[in-house]
Order: sequence, then structure tokens, then C-alpha cells
Amino acid sequence: MRVEGVPFRTIRPLEFGAVEIIDQTLLPHAFERIVLRDAEAAARAIADMQVRGAPLIGVTAAYGLALALMRDESDAGLAAAIDMLAATRPTAVNLRWALERLRVTLAPLQAGERAQAAWRLAGELAEEDVAVCSAIGDHGLSLIREIAARKGDAPVNILTHCNAGWLATVDWGTATAPIYKAHDAGIRVDVYVDETRPRNQGASLTAWELGHHGVAHTIVVDNVGGHLMQHGMIDLVIVGTDRTTARGDVCNKIGTYLKALAAYDNDVPFFVAAPSSSIDFAIEDGLREIEIEQRGQREVTHMSGLTEAGHLETVRITPEGSHALNYAFDVTPARLVTGLITERGIVEASPQALARAFPERVV
Ligand code: MRU
Repeated sequence: MRVEGVPFRTIRPLEFGAVEIIDQTLLPHAFERIVLRDAEAAARAIADMQVRGAPLIGVTAAYGLALALMRDESDAGLAAAIDMLAATRPTAVNLRWALERLRVTLAPLQAGERAQAAWRLAGELAEEDVAVCSAIGDHGLSLIREIAARKGDAPVNILTHCNAGWLATVDWGTATAPIYKAHDAGIRVDVYVDETRPRNQGASLTAWELGHHGVAHTIVVDNVGGHLMQHGMIDLVIVGTDRTTARGDVCNKIGTYLKALAAYDNDVPFFVAAPSSSIDFAIEDGLREIEIEQRGQREVTHMSGLTEAGHLETVRITPEGSHALNYAFDVTPARLVTGLITERGIVEASPQALARAFPERVV
């Protein structure tokens, strides 16, 4: 997507051994790119959330593995690099999915061939992610078109949570792909962007990228969604997912579940943009089987922003000594999900429908 009119991707190989990312911790105040040259830098970028979002951490881990193999192509080197990269974040399944995809191809190769092959595979994964997100955009666009046809000249009001935008993928985004495609097709859309405490990925990232693409949007605090839905101000909710189970339970950024409950109570369609790389066919019960990442208290007790003088500062917003709890994700049961927008079309959130759509993935 575009930044100041220039097309960008979130991750870009520069030359063999160097991959460029956008440092997302600085957005929306600064747009800076950094170059990763070894696996440790890739692992740090994922753990510190310079890159984040399920599909993008998968692709970054793939490049990280290639960087590791440039130093040590042995079986032990391969296993150690996979372990290190897989340990960076526990919830999004894309990380393990990407590493496993590479492992299966790399393991039978000789040392001497692996680094080159891993670099090529990481690039293929990145291209595949763009194609998958674009297909999600096409399928989601049909939903938005239907609503637009009913609404005449009025905009289609869409609520989204966190950042499942192009910054969370290689390009297009998952939840935002239908929005960008609708906007580009001339359909009026107005996006309500949940700020998404504590890290504010909605207010900092989604608002930034929608603004750069010229999409009308309004930032709301996390607690407003229910009120908006009760007053008929939301036509459609679209969120992303970090891990969707074989029966359609959806794990996504903390607060997603409450939006799903409010949508259910108010008959607002609640769709999840779910690339198959985020579907974990090995588990059924999202509540019991998904490890929910817990992050540091400081993300809750402190906030960063620009002062009036233009300096980036971090301040504490809580009483000194108060304890904070920081679960990063929650699980929305399949029964609250209207449908999953996948690269193969819109799929009911049920084990049967998911198995029909992705028969080769059933375990
Ligand atoms: O903690 P984050 O910022 O990595 O969480 C991101 C989300 O929860 C996204 O909604 C999800 O990864 C889908 S991204 C297309």
C-alpha cells in the first residue's frame, strides 16, 4: 500500500543476507526502516514488536531462519534457529506454520544448499501472503458491496479492532483488504477504528495506514463499540485473527470477544478475515488449547506520545505501585462469528465448513 503516494511493503529483501522492515514501534510519529542482518535481530524485531501481526511475524521468522542458516547450515543450526524464532511470540500460529513449512523443505537438503533455499522460500512465502490477502480482499468486497447497495449514498460503516492492516501482513492486510478494495472501487466506507489498548495498534497503526490510503476513518476508544452498535451506527465488523481453530474459534487481540458479543446482541454481522496460515487445524477448543501471550505491566501502566513541542515521551498513567495484568489476546467462540473471510471464500465458522474449504489441511 502507499505511504506519501509511494508503494511500500512491510518487509523487503535488499540483497542476500539483508532484509528491510518498517520499525512499527515508532509509528505513527516516525516512518523509519531498519535492516535485519542476522537471526537474532529478526527474533528481537518480532519479540519487541517492531514487526507484529500474525502473517508478518511468520514471514519475518522465515527470513530470520534464512539469516541463521547463512552462519550455520548444520542440522543442529537449523533446529536451534527454529527453536529461537518460534519462542519469540506464543499465540499467532503463523510463526510456527512458516517455520514448519521451511523446515520440511530444508531438512532433506545438504548443508551448503540450505541458506539459499531458505532465502528463496521466505520470498515465496511473502509473495503468497500478498496473494492470499488480495483474495481475502476480493471475497470481503462482495460483503461490502451488498451492504452498499442497500444503503444507497450513505457510507458503509465498518468497525475494526487492533491492526489487521497491511502493516500486519506483507501487503493489503487481512481485515483491511476488503476495505481498501471497496475504497478503490469507489464505494463509500467509513471505518471505526478501536484504539486497542494497551499498545494502541488501532489508533497508532490502523488509523495511520487508512489515512495514508485516503480511507475515511474515526478512532474510537475501545469501550464505544457496543454503544455504536446499539445505535445502528455499524453495518459490519471485520477483525483479524492470530489463530483460528479447526472448529472456528477465533483468537485475536484482546477485546475482540467483547466486540463479538456486542455484535451478536445487536445483529451486526461479525466477520473474521482469516488466511489459512492463521488456521490451526491441530486444535479444536480455542479457550483451552491456545496459549495466550501475557506481556509486561508497563504496556498498561505507561503510554507514549508526542508532546506539544514534538518530543516523543512516555508517561505513567497509573498510581505508583498498582499491579497491572496484560493479556494480549482473547478467544471468540465460533458461535459468535458470522463467517470467516478466507482466501478460498467466505466460510462458516464450523468444523465441517472449514474441513470442506481446506481438505488438505485436516489432521
Ligand atoms: O499483538 P499484535 O499487534 O501482533 O496483534 C495483532 C492482531 O491481533 C491482529 O489482529 C492479528 O495478528 C491479525 S493480523 C492480519
